[in-house]
Formats: sequence, C-alpha cells, structure tokens
Amino acid sequence: MKSALIYGSCTGRTWHVAELIVEALKPEIEVELIDVNKIGASDLNNWDFIISAIPTWDVGELEYGWSDVYDDLDGVELRSSIAMIGVGDQCSYADTYQDAMGILYKKFLECGATGGIGFTSTDSHEFDASLGVIDGLFCGLAIDEDTQDDLTEPRIAEWAGQIKKEWPSIVQRHEQAVG
Ligand SMILES: Cc1cc2nc3c(=O)[nH]c(=O)nc-3n(C[C@H](O)[C@H](O)[C@H](O)COP(=O)(O)O)c2cc1C
Repeated sequence: MKSALIYGSCTGRTWHVAELIVEALKPEIEVELIDVNKIGASDLNNWDFIISAIPTWDVGELEYGWSDVYDDLDGVELRSSIAMIGVGDQCSYADTYQDAMGILYKKFLECGATGGIGFTSTDSHEFDASLGVIDGLFCGLAIDEDTQDDLTEPRIAEWAGQIKKEWPSIVQRHEQAVG
C-alpha cells in the first residue's frame, strides 16, 4: 500500500503533530510526509492510504491549503482509504471545535474515498459543538496543542496503536477493491 500523511498547517502545530505520527506508525506502517500545498486534488489518487491532517481556522473553516484542495474535489473520484487527524482549540472555539476535520472527511466520502478508520472518543475533550463528531465519536484523531499539549503524545501513541490494529483490514479492503 502506498501511503501518505498529508498535512496543512498555518503556524506549525499540525506539522509537528504530523511528524510525531509518522514516527509513531513505524515500523509497521511507512507513510510519506507531504505538505498539502505541494499537491492538487487529483494527486490524492497517487496513494492507496491517506492520513489527512488539518487544523480548523477562522472559526469553523478549513486550513487554506486544504481549502484549495477541497474546492477542486468536485468531479474527482477518490479511490484511497482515508484516516483523519484534526488539530484545534477547544477553549477558544468550543462551538466549532475540530470542524475542519469533519467537513473535509465528509467531502472525501462524497468523492468515493473509504473511511471509518481511526475514529476516537470525545471523552477527554470539553466543547459544545463539533462537525468533527460523527455518531458520538471524532471521525479521526483530535489534537489540541493550544490547551492540552500534555495529552498530544499519549493520544498519538494510542491512535497509532489503533491504526496498526486496523491495518490488516485496511489492506484487505484495498486489495479487494483493486481486485
Ligand atoms: C483566528 C483563529 C481561528 C481559529 N478557529 C478555530 C476553530 O474554529 N476551531 C478550532 O478547533 N480551532 C480553531 N483555531 C485554533 C487552531 O486550529 C489551532 O491553533 C491549531 O493548533 C493551529 O494549527 P496550525 O499551527 O497547524 O495551523 C483557531 C485559531 C485562530 C488563531
């Protein structure tokens, strides 16, 4: 499986998280680290498995590099499996916490990507509303470097373990899909 972690980051926090994830997934899962500003929407099919890392900006909006990709996704048929990482701030933005993760995830599914990978509990987060929550769970790994940076490393370690456990079924689904 050709795999990538594609990140967008305005002030570097999501980039930092992305680097930690790449290390945490080794040696079982090798992923290329890619800056979203270096790719376009149609490039997403270059990888079989994509981890998409996105912070929420401007009160409920997508980070700008991912926003450009989002705008170009109409008409693109995605064949990849997708896992999400969201980065946000639950104290200052309790009504739009991790919205970008949910908005982008739903768009990926509309374009045909396979999801349902690496969902996590909301238990250790305090917020009022989030588009990143689907059926009571975050649709990926939710990180808050602004107010819970002490939890970042344990959250990443736990999530990497979860993805490694899910990995055989991710590979199997992909192999069935490509025949
Ligand atoms: C103007 C502004 C708006 C923001 N809006 C949100 C938001 O709506 N939801 C959220 O969860 N985080 C929000 N954040 C917090 C960022 O997502 C957070 O600081 C994140 O770590 C930035 O990631 P980056 O350094 O990779 O760009 C906002 C931050 C700023 C400065």
